[in-house]
Amino acid sequence: MRGPKGLGRKRRSSPRDVVSWSTLFWCTLFVVINCALFSGFSFYAFRFLFGKTFQPVLVLTWPAPSNKPISPITISVREVVMFPDQALVFLNHYPRTAHVFTKDDLHCVYFSANDSSRSQPRFNQPPIDIDGGDFHNQIVRCPLPPRRLTLSVGLKHNDDVPVVPSYSWDWLAYDALVDRDNTTIVFVKGLNLRRERISNTAKFECVYGWDFRTTRFLLRSDVVSIAQEIVRCKTPLSVLSFPRGPNNTVKVSVRVKGGGAKGILDTIARPAIRPGLANPTHRKEHEMCLCSMVRNQGRFLKEWVMYHAQMGVQRWFLYDNNSDDDSDVVIEWLRRANYNVTRHAWPWLKTQEAGFAHCALRARETCQWVGFIDVDEFFHLPSGLLLPDVLRNQSNYDYVGEIRASCYSFGPSGLRRVPVQGVTVGYTCRLAAPERHKSIVRPEALNSTLINVVHHFHLRNGYEPVNVDKGVLVINHYKYQVWEVFKEKFYRRVATYVADWQEEQNVGSKDRAPGLGTRAVEPRDWSHRFCEVRDSGLRDRVLQSFVDPQSHLLPWQEEGGDGVVQVQKQQKVIKRSVMMMRKIRARRKHRVFL
Ligand SMILES: *[C@@H]1O[C@H](CO)[C@@H](O)[C@H](O)[C@H]1NC(C)=O
Ligand SMILES: *[C@@H]1O[C@H](CO)[C@@H](O)[C@H](O)[C@H]1NC(C)=O
Ligand SMILES: *[C@@H]1O[C@H](CO)[C@@H](O)[C@H](O)[C@H]1NC(C)=O
Ligand SMILES: *[C@@H]1O[C@H](CO)[C@@H](O)[C@H](O)[C@H]1NC(C)=O
Ligand SMILES: *[C@@H]1O[C@H](CO)[C@@H](O)[C@H](O)[C@H]1NC(C)=O
Ligand SMILES: *[C@@H]1O[C@H](CO)[C@@H](O)[C@H](O)[C@H]1NC(C)=O
Ligand SMILES: *[C@@H]1O[C@H](CO)[C@@H](O)[C@H](O)[C@H]1NC(C)=O
Repeated sequence: MRGPKGLGRKRRSSPRDVVSWSTLFWCTLFVVINCALFSGFSFYAFRFLFGKTFQPVLVLTWPAPSNKPISPITISVREVVMFPDQALVFLNHYPRTAHVFTKDDLHCVYFSANDSSRSQPRFNQPPIDIDGGDFHNQIVRCPLPPRRLTLSVGLKHNDDVPVVPSYSWDWLAYDALVDRDNTTIVFVKGLNLRRERISNTAKFECVYGWDFRTTRFLLRSDVVSIAQEIVRCKTPLSVLSFPRGPNNTVKVSVRVKGGGAKGILDTIARPAIRPGLANPTHRKEHEMCLCSMVRNQGRFLKEWVMYHAQMGVQRWFLYDNNSDDDSDVVIEWLRRANYNVTRHAWPWLKTQEAGFAHCALRARETCQWVGFIDVDEFFHLPSGLLLPDVLRNQSNYDYVGEIRASCYSFGPSGLRRVPVQGVTVGYTCRLAAPERHKSIVRPEALNSTLINVVHHFHLRNGYEPVNVDKGVLVINHYKYQVWEVFKEKFYRRVATYVADWQEEQNVGSKDRAPGLGTRAVEPRDWSHRFCEVRDSGLRDRVLQSFVDPQSHLLPWQEEGGDGVVQVQKQQKVIKRSVMMMRKIRARRKHRVFL
C-alpha cells in the first residue's frame, strides 16, 4: 500500500534508520518555518512537506493576442554536474509545458557563486550542445565555469536564472533503481574500488534523504553488496512507502564510514521504482533483446537493427552518450517501421560496466535473453539457424546463464569508401584468430553484485557460462573499417577500455589498432590491413535474405538506384517534421521575446 498512507506508517520505519520518520518530519517542519522566517528557503523540505516539485522556476507569459489561455514558457533547472572538460546541466521536466529546448532557446550563465542577489556582472555563453532526444530529461552541455564562478542555464533575453546546486563528477552517486527485492542499486563514482572484486560492505553505509546539506536528516541503511561502482543498499521502509513517481525527490548516497560528513558522496541519484521490475515469474515478452552503448553511430543503426530483427531480436536498448548526429532521426524512422528501439541518455564518463548493469536490470523485465554488443558487431549464424533456435537449445539446460560467442575482427577488406550496401556486405576479410568473446545473458541469472567485465557478467550460484560452437554462432566485428570511419573511432572513445587513445599507455592492448601508434593519420596500406582470411559467410546470407528481388537493393541501403527512393523519402519526411517542430518552437519563442 503506497500513496498518502505512507506518512501514516512512519512509526514502522526500519530499526536501522538512525532517525525515525516522525523525527525527520517534525525536524524538517521546524527548519522550514525557521528558514521561511529568516529569508532563506529550504526547497527540499518544502517539496517534502507539500509533495510538490518546488524549484526555482522562471515563468514567461506570452503576450495574449486573444482570450485563449496560453501556457507560459518555463525553464526549471535541477542540478549541474562538473565533468573534466564540460559541465552538464540537468533540466526538470514539466509535463504542462513539455518543451524540447534547442540551442537557440538557452544560454549558459556564469555568475559569482556567493552573490545571492545575482546582480553581479556575469557572462553568458552558448551551450556546447543540448541533448534533445528525450522529452523527459534534457541535458545542456556548457563550457566549464572559470574558478569561483557558478553555472546555471537561463532562457535567452531574460535576466533571471535559477540557482542550482553543482556537483563534481569524481565524487557522485549519479543514478539509482529500486530492485524487485526492495534493495536500492546505487551507481556511484569516486570510491575507487577495485575492478571485478567484491568490496567490504562493512566499510560503507547508504544514506537517504531530501536534504544532503546536513547529515542530521539523513536515514542510514546497510550496504548489501558493493562491487566496482555499484552499491546495493537496504531501502528504509519509510523511503519505500513514500509516494513516488515523477515528483520523486528522495535521494540516496553512499558514505564511507569513518569519513565523517565529508565521507558522503554528493548525490543526484533519486531511486526510481520501475514498474514491472517486481514481477519475476511472468512470461517474458521478448525472447531476445540487445543492449548497446552508442555515440554518433546513426548511419550504422538501420542495418544493425534490421539485420538483427530478421535473426530474431525483438527489442533494442540504446544507451546514448549524447549523439549529435542523426541518430534520433534514424531511431524515429526505425520506430515508425515497427522496430522496438528505445534510447536512454547515458552521459556518464567511463561507465560502461555500470551502463550494462543498468540496461540488464531494465531488460530483465521483458527479456528472456539479452545480448551485449556494439553497433559494429553482428551475430552471425553460419549454419543458417536463427538466434531463438540457439537460445531455445541452451534454455533446455537450466544451468546455462550466459552464452559466449567468439568475435572475429574484420579489416577494411580492400575498400577505400564506406560500402553502400552496408558493413555486412562490404567487409569480407578478417583476422584469422577470434579476439575475445561477447555474451548473451539470461538476466535472471545475474549475480546480485551486477559485476561485469568486458561484456561478461558474474552469474548467480548454480549458473554457468557456455561457449557456443563457432559453427553455430559467432560475432562479426567490423572493427577496422575504411579509414574515414575508423578515424572517428579514435575520438569516439565510447565502449572502449582505452581512456584516451593519445596516451602511450595500453599501446599493446587489443583495443588499440596494432601498429597505429598514437596519431590519427591514415597509414598508406590501411585498406589492406587486418586481412588474413576471406570470410563472406555473412555477406552471402544477407544478400540471400534481404535483397529486394526487383530493385536489387538492401532495405537499409541509402544510395544508388530508384528502389531506395522510398526509404529516403520517408526519412526525409521524418527529418523535415523534426526540423519543422524545432523551427516552430524557435519562432514562437522569438516572437515572445521581441
Ligand atoms: C565572494 O567570494 C570572494 C572570494 O571568495 C570574495 O572576495 C567576495 O568578497 C565575496 N563576495 C561576497 C558578496 O560575499
Ligand atoms: C517491497 O516494499 C513494498 C512497499 O513497502 C511491499 O509492499 C513489498 O511487499 C516489498 N517487497 C519485498 C519483496 O519485500
Ligand atoms: C506531481 O507534480 C505535478 C505537477 O507539479 C502534480 O500535478 C502531481 O499531482 C504531483 N504528483 C504527486 C504524486 O505528488
Ligand atoms: C516494446 O517493448 C516493450 C517492452 O520491452 C513493450 O512494453 C512495448 O509494447 C513494445 N512496443 C512495441 C511497439 O512493440
Ligand atoms: C544444442 O546444445 C548442445 C549442447 O550444448 C550442443 O551440442 C548443440 O550443438 C546445440 N545445437 C545447436 C543447434 O545450437
Ligand atoms: C555472487 O558472486 C559471488 C562471488 O563473486 C558469490 O560469493 C555469491 O554467492 C554470488 N551470489 C549469488 C546470489 O549467487
Ligand atoms: C561521452 O562523450 C563525452 C564527450 O561528449 C566523452 O568525454 C565521454 O568519455 C563519453 N562517455 C563514455 C561513457 O564514453
